[in-house]
Amino acid sequence: MQPMLMKILSKLTATLLLIGAFACSQGPVSVVEPKTEGMINPEYLHTGAPRFTWRIESELQDVVQKSYRILVASSEKNLKAGIGDLWDSGEVASGISVLIPYEGVGLGSRTQAWWKVIVNTNKGTDESEVSYFGTSILDPSEIKASWIGHEFADDVLEFKTRLAARYLRKEFNLTKKVKDAKLYISGVGLYEAFINGKEIGSDDHLKPTVSDYDVTVYFNTYDVTDELRKGTNTIGVELGAGRYTGLRHSSVPRDRDGTRQFRHYGVPQMIAQIEVTYADGTKETFVSDGSWKITNKGPIRLNNLFDGERYDARMELTGWNANGYDDSSWLDAEIVAGPKGTLLPQPNPAIKKMEVVKPVALIEKGDLYYLDMGQNMVGWLKINIKGQQAGDTLSMRFAEVLQSDTTLLLANMRRAEVTDLYIAKDSKPIEWEPSFTYHGFRYVEIKGLRNKPSLSDFEGHVLYDQMTTTGSFECSNEIMNKVHKNAYWGIRSNYHGMPTDCPQRDERLGWNGDRTTGAYGEAYIFNNNLMYAKWLKDFEDSQKESGSLPDVVPAYWRFYYDSITWPGAIVTVADMLYQQFGDSQPIVRHYDAMKKWLRYMKETYGDKGIITKDKYGDWCMPPESLDMIHSKDPNRITEAGVLSTAFYYYLMGKMMKLAPIAGYPEDIPYFEAEAAETKEAFNREYFKEEEGYYANNTVTANLLGLWFGMTPEGREQDVFKNIVEKTENDCKGHVSTGVVGIQQLMRTLTEYGNPQLALKIASNETYPSWGYMVNSGATTIWELWNGNTARPDMNSANHVMLLGDLLIWKYEYLGGIRALEPGFKKIELKPYPIEGLDYVNCSYDSVYGTIVSNWKREGNTFTWNFTIPANTTATVCLPTSEGYDSVEYPSGSYTLSSTL
Ligand code: BGC
Repeated sequence: MQPMLMKILSKLTATLLLIGAFACSQGPVSVVEPKTEGMINPEYLHTGAPRFTWRIESELQDVVQKSYRILVASSEKNLKAGIGDLWDSGEVASGISVLIPYEGVGLGSRTQAWWKVIVNTNKGTDESEVSYFGTSILDPSEIKASWIGHEFADDVLEFKTRLAARYLRKEFNLTKKVKDAKLYISGVGLYEAFINGKEIGSDDHLKPTVSDYDVTVYFNTYDVTDELRKGTNTIGVELGAGRYTGLRHSSVPRDRDGTRQFRHYGVPQMIAQIEVTYADGTKETFVSDGSWKITNKGPIRLNNLFDGERYDARMELTGWNANGYDDSSWLDAEIVAGPKGTLLPQPNPAIKKMEVVKPVALIEKGDLYYLDMGQNMVGWLKINIKGQQAGDTLSMRFAEVLQSDTTLLLANMRRAEVTDLYIAKDSKPIEWEPSFTYHGFRYVEIKGLRNKPSLSDFEGHVLYDQMTTTGSFECSNEIMNKVHKNAYWGIRSNYHGMPTDCPQRDERLGWNGDRTTGAYGEAYIFNNNLMYAKWLKDFEDSQKESGSLPDVVPAYWRFYYDSITWPGAIVTVADMLYQQFGDSQPIVRHYDAMKKWLRYMKETYGDKGIITKDKYGDWCMPPESLDMIHSKDPNRITEAGVLSTAFYYYLMGKMMKLAPIAGYPEDIPYFEAEAAETKEAFNREYFKEEEGYYANNTVTANLLGLWFGMTPEGREQDVFKNIVEKTENDCKGHVSTGVVGIQQLMRTLTEYGNPQLALKIASNETYPSWGYMVNSGATTIWELWNGNTARPDMNSANHVMLLGDLLIWKYEYLGGIRALEPGFKKIELKPYPIEGLDYVNCSYDSVYGTIVSNWKREGNTFTWNFTIPANTTATVCLPTSEGYDSVEYPSGSYTLSSTL
């Protein structure tokens, strides 16, 4: 079904054809991209309550949706006849076209539905093309299959973490012609499935998506009608370790409280159910059970997400996943207890090959070759090699940095071995890519080649969650453009069913504090809503009875250190999804968890309005010496109580906003009272009346007090002055903040009157700055400001946390694109034409349509082209010499100019 859906969408977008009763290709408005939630992939919905979204496109100005009518039918025929037998919304007077909830006949598992929307605008009427959706199995009790697997004595290497892959197979007989067949399948940690020798869902990698397997396990749904035939059929499943089989211990001694580093859930296991409907209407179900066969004597001799994959082609099990294979030497699969978690259909898109990178250079050194991909990327290397002989071992080791002596920098991989091995079985050409690992790398060391390869023998497959790129930013400053590109690569490098901290070393975890504010900026560049919405469920899955939330989500490291700054992402990410995508569901779903956590924090650690509990401080601020990771200088360090208390106050403000959306307006007074008490206490404790700064006058302390709105009235400019003085004098116009302070820096400087300093920081090329990273050869964003000189043990070249509010600033302040209403239904366009920038070209593909803001300044003349998508309006703030001129604009494309 996936290709079909893609075809429908691309046809619509490519031609803007108007189809159906009101169709008319010359029509003034077109309804395009009708989408059912979650339909990108997996294509079978995880919910019986889908939500519908469409866009309106038009060449005309001032297009407003007046009403819509959604029809959902149980057959295409019904829909074409205008009968919405599942749901006919009737004509609904509303301008909303995003995430409209289904309110028809209850949809159970395995429903098939066709839908369309008829849209009435002030400029004409149109209807969308017909779209299809199916539902998956929605009630876990309908899965009758058993979890199966086997614990092999001989595959236990080290800490049971590096295993040979398991291969499972089963032949089954279909007595009649097949009309429809679905495969419901999960394998933990990772699986690949085949029917009659053909891979099912071959575009989806590293599946299913990650979760805390003690609470939730996701399964995938595939239409396998075309793969099955009357007679004998074979299903084969390969199982890898993934995150299920405890991964190796980190070298960082962090489990001081006795918790294990990586959780070990067990050895790999799988579950599958094939449901067949025959042409005569009868049905038959085939399930995984003890009659399946299993072996670990296949070609994947070792697999571990971090260490890599060892593939021995001499052990290939030719034909194992097709009919007639002799599996007499295999063992009977055992029915196992299975993971504790509830089986649910995967709600977020699968990881896919999103781009292919061609290497740019090959360096020869003795019998080694070093491949330079030209870009720090995440995924794996596909090889196409000739000339190897039987038994030859080809080794590929991955790293982000090639040192000056032409060796890989491996120390920052910590204990991840990051090596793929391929052992040839004969002299035929080798075409291979791994299955159950991924690497973060720019360079590959290749050992064991008989002949010199050519660049075209290699491809870098960039793997991350399927999603569209929605933002573009370009300006007259080259460094800022390169930083934007590095951010783009860094963010996509770290989307693997969760937003990870890093993609290369023995960590790769959903550290939540890295995203508290970053998530808002990322959402301008990527349509990441389904991934982040799923991550919020991971938060809830990992919440303790007490209310405590972990710092990494899912809690593969059981770190429950109870900071405010890290788990606070549960609140801000839900807020981001609402603001950016118009999606209130995450708020409704997780509001209780947020409230429970905040109450727990307050009750456990609150002391008359102050919370001093904090684990990480202003993590990764520029230290006093270039080889350090963490500063020890008390003048640089912002004390814990400032960070926790200020963030608690900030989150109270968010909760006041979220409470009514979640349906609890009655909670507002509680959050208000909390906020008032916290603000009073914060100023009493930390505000220095005389000097007009907070605590020890770090930029971070002052930013938190000021940006969160805690500063006593009338003293704002005093605090701001201290931020500017410290930055300009002590830091020579450079950042002095770590992960916490950086989240407010760019916006505060701009809003409180020194956008010039913000621009300087954004375009700096000297240490510490994002531009310094660029000039030091970075093609992604570093974990440390001093990433090229600090010790390697916590020094990834591909983190995103130090981006802070930089991307928000680029899109909302330089481009000037902001949401005034959720999902950008109402927009504010308010660019800051900072002196020193000649132009900015910025666009954001919002759920309503593409917003464009392109401006240039020549002398004092400001010229601005902007586009407001159909069915939205904007408050347009034109910068002039006197400040901003604000005028309401309807949709359309415009050019304005002014004198600055
Ligand atoms: C991670 C960071 C994380 C931090 C907190 C680091 O190891 O890479 O992203 O936020 O730990 O301790």
